[in-house]
Amino acid sequence: MPLDSYKVETHQYDVVVVGAGGAGLRATMGLAAKGLSAACVTKVFPTRSHTVAAQGGIAAALGNMGEDDWRYHFYDTVKGGDWLGDQDAIEYMCREAIPAVIELEHFGMPFSRTPEGKIYQRPFGGHTIRHGEAMAQRSCAAADRTGHAMLHTMYTQALKHDAKFFVEYFATDLVKDPRDGRIVGVLAIDLNEGTLHFFQGHAIVLATGGYGRAYFSCTSAHTCTGDGGGMALRAGVALQDLEFVQFHPTGIYGSGCLITEGVRGEGGYLTNVKGERFMERYAPNAKDLASRDVVSRAMTLEIREGRGVGEHQDHLLLNLAHLGAEVLNERLPGISESARIFAGVDVTKEPIPVLPTVHYCMGGIPTNYHGEVVQKVGDDPDAIVPGLFAIGEAACVSVHGANRLGTNSLLDLVVFGRAAANRCAEVVKPDTPHHDLPADALDPALSRLDKLRHAHGGTPTAQLRLKMQKTMQADAAVFRIEDTLKEGCRKIDEVYAGFEDIHVSDRSLIWNSDLVETFELANLLGQAVGTMHSAAQRPETRGAHARDDYPERDDAQWMKHTLVTVDDKGQCAFDFRPVHLQPMDDEAETVPPAKRVY
Ligand code: FUM
Repeated sequence: MPLDSYKVETHQYDVVVVGAGGAGLRATMGLAAKGLSAACVTKVFPTRSHTVAAQGGIAAALGNMGEDDWRYHFYDTVKGGDWLGDQDAIEYMCREAIPAVIELEHFGMPFSRTPEGKIYQRPFGGHTIRHGEAMAQRSCAAADRTGHAMLHTMYTQALKHDAKFFVEYFATDLVKDPRDGRIVGVLAIDLNEGTLHFFQGHAIVLATGGYGRAYFSCTSAHTCTGDGGGMALRAGVALQDLEFVQFHPTGIYGSGCLITEGVRGEGGYLTNVKGERFMERYAPNAKDLASRDVVSRAMTLEIREGRGVGEHQDHLLLNLAHLGAEVLNERLPGISESARIFAGVDVTKEPIPVLPTVHYCMGGIPTNYHGEVVQKVGDDPDAIVPGLFAIGEAACVSVHGANRLGTNSLLDLVVFGRAAANRCAEVVKPDTPHHDLPADALDPALSRLDKLRHAHGGTPTAQLRLKMQKTMQADAAVFRIEDTLKEGCRKIDEVYAGFEDIHVSDRSLIWNSDLVETFELANLLGQAVGTMHSAAQRPETRGAHARDDYPERDDAQWMKHTLVTVDDKGQCAFDFRPVHLQPMDDEAETVPPAKRVY
């Protein structure tokens, strides 16, 4: 259909935020509070964003329930990320954690409380005091519904500050000014009305979440389709560290539904078919509270070596009945319900069948700790992409390095959502007039929309998506080796090429879920290809990237961030950025690389 037959309504704001999870809401609220006009464009109602599913807590060294210090948190996060995290950004996050959580408390977030009325804090994997001497109680929790409580709190704050929400608008592509290539907005479909909208801003903040749905079994919502990463790749932005995908040790066997690590924080433990607490063999000190990559690998080895449970000996058991009904009801009500619904288990009597399940993408759109997107330009590895920000799981700051610690994710959302809003307030003057754009500025985004809408190949979207998910699950898994990665690259390239033959059967624009899922698949595919090829080119074991054939970390060659671009034929090109080993200032000291044991 001729592009000029598409009517597009233009909306001009100081800043446009895409996504309304924890990061997007914190940014939107912060922008509005600073007097900037902000539009938040979101494909789901804000309180249905995937942040709602976060369970166990938000990390901050408040020291409410024992000794703690943000410097211990800083050390644990560097170590947890297997020395791939940028230590300046990690210092920023761990220091800001304390005011960020107090701010949430003042916003009215309903945290669980200690008997004295302080915010309740539970232990979580990899969080210690005195550099691993003992476990810390650092995860500030609202029972096991912390994300839910946080999302509702921030949405009400955003409304209080009069932020403008465009709900159930699906952003398809970033829009550039063709004269200088600067990113100036996004094109979006109003799903309800079937109308097209161009949101123009002096800054665009991508807060679109991770791409967990590239895998077959994951804890992520069906909406976690890496839309920001997909848009960034198409705009020529290189993504960082995609090979690092976290498996959460305790997804419910079968459904993949999350059972919080908070269960083990409260005293739950894993057993194999012999009833053995096998984590004692793999992590003698931290045991079940070692970091997630360590626990997921141990579980995979137990199953491989024939000590799994069930008819197919393909999963393990999470024991929690000994915690007693009172603790389970008060501190873990959500997972008690999930276990009943998805595993048919009464947790006061029986263990939960569990299996490591894809949970978090450490990689994403590279940014500095202000949320500004960075790219390597000439000799400058940290050159800022004017006008583009990324926050939350869509971004790679990189605070999580090669493996994220539990409860550092909710923290990342609020700390960097706030940082991005603050930076925008420094670089964008309220009500600065927008440049007129050439008449053809929207053409690339419109012609892609038109092409997908009328795609009439022979492959239904769901069929190709399933092929992608099975390939990622089989070949970009907990353990990786050269042969299977090579095979994985071959298969995922074939899936990518299969998109040329995609078929969309509904041609309308009103609630066209077929079309939306096709856009989402395109976003996922770019990141799936980038993930598989990034994994194949890194011959070492670091954090969540475990190579059977290269079992050691290789700091001499590989302590560097992978940058990958994926062109429209699915071809990957690689470059690298150095890891920032220097903290922000002299309040923290560089944590020198060491062997990671728990
Ligand atoms: O286990 C959990 O509650 C998940 C927390 C997280 O991923 O941060």
